[in-house]
Amino acid sequence: MGKILVTGGAGFIGSHTVVELQNDGRDVVVLDNLSNSSEKSLERVEAITGKKVPFYKADILDREALEEIFSKEDISAVIHFAGLKAVGESVAKPWEYYENNIAGTLTLVDVMRKHGCKNIIFSSSATVYGNPAFIPITEECPKGVCTNPYGWTKSMLEQILSDIQKADNEWNVILLRYFNPIGAHKSGTMGENPNGIPNNLMPYITQVAVGKRDHLNVFGNDYDTPDGTGVRDYIHVVDLAQGHVKALKKIEENAGLKIYNLGTGRGYSVLDIVKNFEEATGVKVPYEIAPRRPGDIATCYADASLAKKELGWEAKYGIREMCEDSWRWQKNNPNGY
Ligand code: NAD
Ligand code: UFG
Repeated sequence: MGKILVTGGAGFIGSHTVVELQNDGRDVVVLDNLSNSSEKSLERVEAITGKKVPFYKADILDREALEEIFSKEDISAVIHFAGLKAVGESVAKPWEYYENNIAGTLTLVDVMRKHGCKNIIFSSSATVYGNPAFIPITEECPKGVCTNPYGWTKSMLEQILSDIQKADNEWNVILLRYFNPIGAHKSGTMGENPNGIPNNLMPYITQVAVGKRDHLNVFGNDYDTPDGTGVRDYIHVVDLAQGHVKALKKIEENAGLKIYNLGTGRGYSVLDIVKNFEEATGVKVPYEIAPRRPGDIATCYADASLAKKELGWEAKYGIREMCEDSWRWQKNNPNGY
């Protein structure tokens, strides 16, 4: 096999995946426009793996830049993380989200096929299930109505990549539906680095714990869940990264079109997370109950047995380690990279 191009490889999940790929002996090339990340994440990767990370600062919308990379490097597969991902921002800026995520992916895939590279692993999301028809969610669960343009870009890109694979069976397409990635590398040198006020629960909690925010707002305690707060399937980012290493092996067996949930199969409520975080770190997280956040659902957790059966992958880390590792990163790097 040739090299693996990781788009969005300077980002949260991408950088952790580069570590696992290099540890697995893969030759990796990273492309990122750094719109939501810092090149420093790649220096941290190099410090961990002891290997160089060849990096192109480029945009997936820039056809010429992509042409150059595919001409210079012998790329045999792409792990495609690059995309905008802020749910609220996508409601305010739908054009930017459709342009970046959809037009960007169409350009990438076109350049790939022109260079005879027809292997792609795509970062999808449990958001494509909408308000899920059943729980735990298997891959058979019908796709649902998304509540924001970000979610629609994932749903539409799944359709686009599936149609491309059906029309040309030289393509191997693996759609990975992530549940809620949290945690950080054990070294405490790499982690999630949100811009501004965090949208997601764990980075918000760690910023409260480190004193950057006053308290956590718990968005609703009247859901139909055991304690009334929203239930999600939190997965350690290193487990998620290792799922990509396994998916790459599947690609090499000529997978065709495959879809896998990457989750732990366990649901935790917002208050469960607060309690686990406090127990794991010894740091108090003051919180207040606030109104529901528009678009949120009550419960979302995976049945991840297909990934276990077909990829030989399952999540290894529990909630305590997810909390400890998120905290180690935040504490050591209060202002991110
Ligand atoms: P991230 O923002 O940390 O990483 C995405 C990277 O893509 C960033 O480094 C950004 O600079 C880059 N990027 C964005 N647009 C680009 C473009 N046009 N050209 C080149 N680079 C570009 O986000 P992440 O959490 O690591 O997410 C990675 C992928 O996984 C995204 O596609 C995201 O939608 C998806 N995903 C994330 C979650 C989550 O909760 N974090 C859940 C489900 C799916
Ligand atoms: N929450 C709070 N307070 C906060 C932030 C979140 O109470 O400050 C609650 C939410 O209401 C929800 C839970 O914590 O019940 C998790 O919220 P996140 O924003 O961390 O995650 P979501 O499940 O809403 O969304 C995440 C990703 C999306 C992805 C989706 C489904 O952000 O990109 O999972 O995979 F689409």
